[in-house]
Amino acid sequence: MSPSDSTPSSTRSSTRSAATDLAGLRTVEIRGKQRYHEPAVPTDAQAFADVVRSRRSVRVFTDTPIPPEVLDECLDLAMLAPNSSGLQPWEFYVVRSEPIRSRLVQVCMGQLAAKTAAELIVCVARTDRIKEHAAQTLREWPTPETPGPARQYYRAIPFLYGPGPFGLAAPLKRALFALAGLVRPVPRGPYTASELRLWAAKSTALACENLVLALRAHGFDSCMMEGFDEVRLRRLLDLDDAALPIMVVGAGERAPDGVFWPQLRFDRSQFVHEV
Ligand SMILES: Cc1cc2nc3c(=O)[nH]c(=O)nc-3n(C[C@H](O)[C@H](O)[C@H](O)COP(=O)(O)O)c2cc1C
Repeated sequence: MSPSDSTPSSTRSSTRSAATDLAGLRTVEIRGKQRYHEPAVPTDAQAFADVVRSRRSVRVFTDTPIPPEVLDECLDLAMLAPNSSGLQPWEFYVVRSEPIRSRLVQVCMGQLAAKTAAELIVCVARTDRIKEHAAQTLREWPTPETPGPARQYYRAIPFLYGPGPFGLAAPLKRALFALAGLVRPVPRGPYTASELRLWAAKSTALACENLVLALRAHGFDSCMMEGFDEVRLRRLLDLDDAALPIMVVGAGERAPDGVFWPQLRFDRSQFVHEV
């Protein structure tokens, strides 16, 4: 399949003619302008379905370790998850220290999936990296020129998001946007601390899913766990209030009895609505 096969038909004729290289980036001429061009690479839907369908929550792992380079690759793939405004509000604690590991197993209430895992990864959402990551986005912008709208957006985000000092800005922002919302669609948050936690949790949960699918693609398995004592986990990893533990992921090689029962999903008609 050629790049043009995966390009929307409106741009097809020009992409076929003009893929070039400008300042190290692949570009294509569209309506007289050089535009960044990233072709949709061919993929293997069956291989993806095999990864998704064979992922199970595994509660017993063998003693086989996960090669460090495999775990690194899985973590890299985790961090390629889509994330709100590209702000990457997550952290991953790969537990290496034996004393911390054994306390983490206790924090996970002694669950078998934690006890037998070759690796334990604590996935944490952060609500306090908005300003820092917005500035970093502008510093590390991936094209030679930062487009004007992107500059404006990332300069505005730290003021738009979050409750402000002592939470005072949240009601003000909500009222202002509600007013503007009377005449047009507007963003309705995240303004409060709890909205920020939900905001960061969404992106981090997506990274968790990438992580477990990547492990499966490498032949390993996992169990996501929210069955942990959050207070003790915070103490163990010295997490401040801006950190929200989302999941402890236990990972390793599936033991023959690692999956306890066949997968159960309800009928799709209960969940999929055509409107
Ligand atoms: C948010 C979340 C929290 C979970 N917490 C635990 C947990 O603490 N312990 C556990 O054994 N499984 C946990 N699981 C795994 C679920 O029980 C499992 O995904 C579900 O039963 C469906 O089984 P499957 O993953 O094999 O399809 C969790 C899954 C999710 C998504």
